[in-house]
Amino acid sequence: MKISTIILAAGKGTRMRSKYPKVLHPIAGEPMAWHIIQAVKEFSDELPTVVVGYKAEEVKDSLGDNAHFVLQNEQKGTAHAVQQAEDLLKGNSDIVVVLLGDMPLIKGQTLKALTETQKNNTGPVSMLTVLSENPRGFGRISRNKKGQVEAIIEEADCTSEQLKINELNVSVYCFQADWLWDNLENIPVSSKGEFYLTDIIKVATDKGLNVHAEAISDPQEAIGINSRVHLSEAERIMRRRINQTWMEAGVSIIDPQTTYIHTNVKIGQDTTIYPNTHLQGNTIIGEDCEIGPNTTINNTCIGNNCKIISSVLEYAKVENHVDIGPFGHLRKGAHLADGVHMGNYGEIKNSYIGPGTKIGHFSYLGDTTTGKNVNIGAGTITGNYDGVNKNKTEIADDVFIGSDTMLIAPVKIGKGARPGAGSVVNKDVGEGEVVVGMPARAIRRRKDNSE
Ligand code: UD1
Ligand code: CA
Repeated sequence: MKISTIILAAGKGTRMRSKYPKVLHPIAGEPMAWHIIQAVKEFSDELPTVVVGYKAEEVKDSLGDNAHFVLQNEQKGTAHAVQQAEDLLKGNSDIVVVLLGDMPLIKGQTLKALTETQKNNTGPVSMLTVLSENPRGFGRISRNKKGQVEAIIEEADCTSEQLKINELNVSVYCFQADWLWDNLENIPVSSKGEFYLTDIIKVATDKGLNVHAEAISDPQEAIGINSRVHLSEAERIMRRRINQTWMEAGVSIIDPQTTYIHTNVKIGQDTTIYPNTHLQGNTIIGEDCEIGPNTTINNTCIGNNCKIISSVLEYAKVENHVDIGPFGHLRKGAHLADGVHMGNYGEIKNSYIGPGTKIGHFSYLGDTTTGKNVNIGAGTITGNYDGVNKNKTEIADDVFIGSDTMLIAPVKIGKGARPGAGSVVNKDVGEGEVVVGMPARAIRRRKDNSE
């Protein structure tokens, strides 16, 4: 059976009080609507169709080729929104799943189970409800004496008796496709002048057709985000889920309450994450690492057996057996090879740091390459920017740079050379040379060509 999916996301989300469309507000680092698209992949091979309206271009740009898009020019209600997808989807599928762009906690397996239910339903629709004492403005499910669903009544239209109903509409529906397309136009206009998809339930029951409604087992999945308070609730629930998944996969998390892992992060077995650590974007961390406390790692790839304490790493690459911190900062394009040691207060940008190199204390390396086993003395900095261009510093294998050295790029330091403490190096230094002073001058050449 072919299943297509419609995600409604044309509304403004007024209660968010935001310049940005509601469905693009992130949960665990990805837009709300992205999470729903992931869930859809678990039951359908078809790309979902997202109904966009408010700031449609921004939503399309953000979700890109993960979905098809149809435009709802005016927001005339949830049924009117579904109608916008009719031309694209009619005749293409057996089942149409409809859900909202603001329910990022809904799980793929829950949706899959509902589609299975609908396959066996003789009636035209199966839907999810939630049993909750906190109605959150949700529509109420009205059932007859036999317990069969009769209608969904929006909160604004409820009588005082109906307001007490604790079975609520989640807004996840699974329709027999042909029936949906034939009956959308039978929905009456609401008291607010909109066309509510909720009213299609009564269209079915009036004809004596069976509506299957089942309560979701985990009410958290049903949370719809209407405000920033709801957003933070969803973030907390998603954080708990992600942390639990990693712990089950063999990662130790000392304090899950203060560990913030984005949804696309990957972590290897036997790695330990210490408190107040933020792992963001497409970060990948290998096995047997110790990360944190107080560390932020964004879009960075880290190998095995690394130790990162109280540091910030962004768009960087770190190989195996590297230790960083406390107070290290890797910026975009920093690449630390095996066994690099980077101690207190180091900053590295757009640089390759060769295997076994040590950068113990207070350094800045920008646009630099170092060879193997280089020692960068305390307080060494590269003057990589002359006010116009970013210039390169090249440091060969086994160089020993004395403390407080300034390397004025472009400059090359030859293999085994030793710029002395406090030198300001503005000319290339030959292999094995020892240079001192400001600007640095040679005091000893290599033995084979010394005077
Ligand atoms: C809706 C349901 C309600 C349910 C609740 C669960 C209706 C009428 N009500 O109420 O029964 O309990 O969800 O969260 O369906 N949208 C459009 N185009 C429109 C109108 C809305 O795309 O013309 C989209 C919005 O962007 C939003 C979603 O549909 O993502 C729901 O709209 P909203 O106005 O938030 O409905 P609720 O009041 O939450
Ligand atoms: Ca809503």
